[in-house]
Amino acid sequence: MNNWSPSSWREFTIRQQPVYNDLEKLKKVEEKLKSYPPLIFAGEALRLKSLLADGVNSKAFVLQGGDCAESFSEFNANNIKNLFKVLMQMAVILTFSGSCPVIKIGRVAGQFAKPRSGDFEEKDGIILPSYRGDMVNSSTFESGARTPNPKKLLQAYNQSAATLNLLRAFSRGGMADLNKVHSWNLDFIKDNALGVKYEEMASKISQALKFMESCGLNSDTSPALTQTTLFTSHEALLLNYEEALTRRDSITDKWFSCSAHMLWIGDRTRKLDEAHIEYFKGIENPIACKVGPSMKEDELLRLVDALNPKNEAGRLTLILRLGAEEIANTLPNFIKRLKSEGKNILYSCDPMHANTIKTDNGYKTRSFDAILSEVKQFFQIHRAEGTYAGGIHLEMTGQNVTECIGSTSAAITQEGLASRYHTQCDPRLSADQALELAFLIADSLKEARA
Ligand code: PEP
Ligand code: CO
Repeated sequence: MNNWSPSSWREFTIRQQPVYNDLEKLKKVEEKLKSYPPLIFAGEALRLKSLLADGVNSKAFVLQGGDCAESFSEFNANNIKNLFKVLMQMAVILTFSGSCPVIKIGRVAGQFAKPRSGDFEEKDGIILPSYRGDMVNSSTFESGARTPNPKKLLQAYNQSAATLNLLRAFSRGGMADLNKVHSWNLDFIKDNALGVKYEEMASKISQALKFMESCGLNSDTSPALTQTTLFTSHEALLLNYEEALTRRDSITDKWFSCSAHMLWIGDRTRKLDEAHIEYFKGIENPIACKVGPSMKEDELLRLVDALNPKNEAGRLTLILRLGAEEIANTLPNFIKRLKSEGKNILYSCDPMHANTIKTDNGYKTRSFDAILSEVKQFFQIHRAEGTYAGGIHLEMTGQNVTECIGSTSAAITQEGLASRYHTQCDPRLSADQALELAFLIADSLKEARA
């Protein structure tokens, strides 16, 4: 570790990076980012790490969710507010029905860069660079739009700062007040069966709050009733952006990524001895790594040792995205091995990324049944192995979209996908699908903690 620096990743093989034409311009942008204020404070990242250690010890559950890719054109207060509200609703469902403290982490305020299966995309004989997220290029299939532009890194920073500012305001300024639990219900859900189910639970919470108030416990005496913390996270794919926002904390004298509280490594960039692993080794933040079906047991163990050499609880979350078909074949062996080696891991389930399908009418989608099946198996396997299912990682939105098929509440069909298919990249759960899933997970969580 002696040779580590925020830029030491540059000596290693790196995957999934844009090719910029104007390297001088890129350098200027990186210098500018280095001069900008950090987006988060090291103390906040350490606090999240200690909360995640509670998750490792089965005292808390992680809810991590947001867009597959944030977008510059969809950037507005309403979208941020609706995502915040749905995350609050899901958290309160899991806390109330699952009787478990919930650690809330958004895929937000920095989730702008995407790994792609191909470097190029071909349409009608024309070949252009793939769309790699709004901080790199634009999705429009046109040469200028697809050319990576370094200035977009600055726009991503600015949008992240403004998004984080509003989320902090919502968290501390009254929106998260448990007395407002009814108002988190979104208009398009309010009147359906799911909305009603939520209202019933919310009324029980209101009753409990009234009782507590009579006992002298209120917002003034217990700020936890009126405030919350929503941490931020994203895939740290563009390491030049991350490097520019890596700062040495004056209190601990250690290096922190200050672009988000938690960062993760994607399934396509997690090779040992490559750049992303090198960068992550040197930062003190809580980190996560995606684990897909191509992972081997020995490789996983080496990865865990490389990313968490001191076996610190809360440092490393493994986000398993194995697929409803595959999870039962792979996960038990991973868990057995890591358990026998005494590794402190927070296990989280991403039931989205290995359940993506393409419909006959050309849409990338996911079925709610497959998502639910992977989550249920995740809980069952942990129960059988005597380990704790510590979290869930979802691509979701507070909007009324039609991107994933199925669920009782939304009942989206293949034909219905076209009506409100808005994602920048992968299909997200709509707000009602996300809520429905939260109710279903709450039951499994209760059992897991029984
Ligand atoms: C993602 O989270 O959007 C993603 C690309 O995931 P993975 O690295 O697991 O494929
Ligand atoms: Co995705």
